[in-house]
Amino acid sequence: MPQSPPHPLIEIIDLTKIYRMGTVEVHALRGLSLTVRVGEYVAIVGASGSGKSTLMNMIGLLDRPTSGVYRVRGQASQKLDKKALADLRNREIGFVFQRFNLLARAPARRQVELPLFYAGVSARKARQMAQEALKKVGLGDRLHHRPEELSGGQQQRVAIARAIVNQPSLLLADEPTGALDSHTGEEILTLFEELHSQGLTLVVVTHDPDVAARAHRIVTMRDGLIVGDVTQVSSNAAAPAAVPATTTSVPQPVSEPAPTIQQTRANPCPSVS
Ligand SMILES: Nc1ncnc2c1ncn2[C@@H]1O[C@H](COP(=O)(O)OP(=O)(O)OP(=O)(O)O)[C@@H](O)[C@H]1O
Ligand SMILES: [Mg+2]
Repeated sequence: MPQSPPHPLIEIIDLTKIYRMGTVEVHALRGLSLTVRVGEYVAIVGASGSGKSTLMNMIGLLDRPTSGVYRVRGQASQKLDKKALADLRNREIGFVFQRFNLLARAPARRQVELPLFYAGVSARKARQMAQEALKKVGLGDRLHHRPEELSGGQQQRVAIARAIVNQPSLLLADEPTGALDSHTGEEILTLFEELHSQGLTLVVVTHDPDVAARAHRIVTMRDGLIVGDVTQVSSNAAAPAAVPATTTSVPQPVSEPAPTIQQTRANPCPSVS
């Protein structure tokens, strides 16, 4: 029996974002549509100013669109008030930024505990969960180190531990390797692949073609729109073992509904919900 495709995790329909600065309007998103299904690993590429970070802010529920529909697990975000949005974000979404965005003086475990406090987790449980998340990213022996006592790659690992400690469904990363040397960047990509193989859905913005090539699907933006959407099966990508170790690209027409990785996967990742 054919398997049904994994459920959409996020659905974006005809999204626009206009920044108004005095009398000047910047049309950062111009009616963009995108579906990402549970278990996908998507790279978003495009020239500077094409709207990638704006889109990530929308996907991450950090900012509201000017118009259009955005659903997370079928739930329409535009109907939610501030608190409900924050709850949805805390539950479903983790964020990683280029510059790590860690607190300057806090030790690693404290950085990772913070989102748990906001989610109302007890101090004891938060400590245990933070420790586990840091262990997962290979920093089990750096719990008490402050950012200045960690390498760039280790700081990014702390940021990733902080992003995954709530066990979100979706990890968003905006240029996660942009501030790292290539060897350290490679370690972060390997970690992403591990997390992806454990069921996390990933959306990564990058300028680096080598970083994009690690994803299963590459979405290209230009002037606030999607102009390319390619699903690839690559020996680099952390696809389930049943996928052959060859490289083929399957261009998808961008006017059609967004493609699914089901086309290239014999064994989709399980939902982490
Ligand atoms: N807060 C803001 N206020 C006004 N304009 C903004 C704001 N944020 C972004 N813009 C504008 O929106 C457009 C898209 O910006 P965005 O940051 O999404 O691009 P990007 O693709 O992430 O670029 P980069 O690759 O340089 O990070 C740009 O023209 C930018 O100047
Ligand atoms: Mg950006």
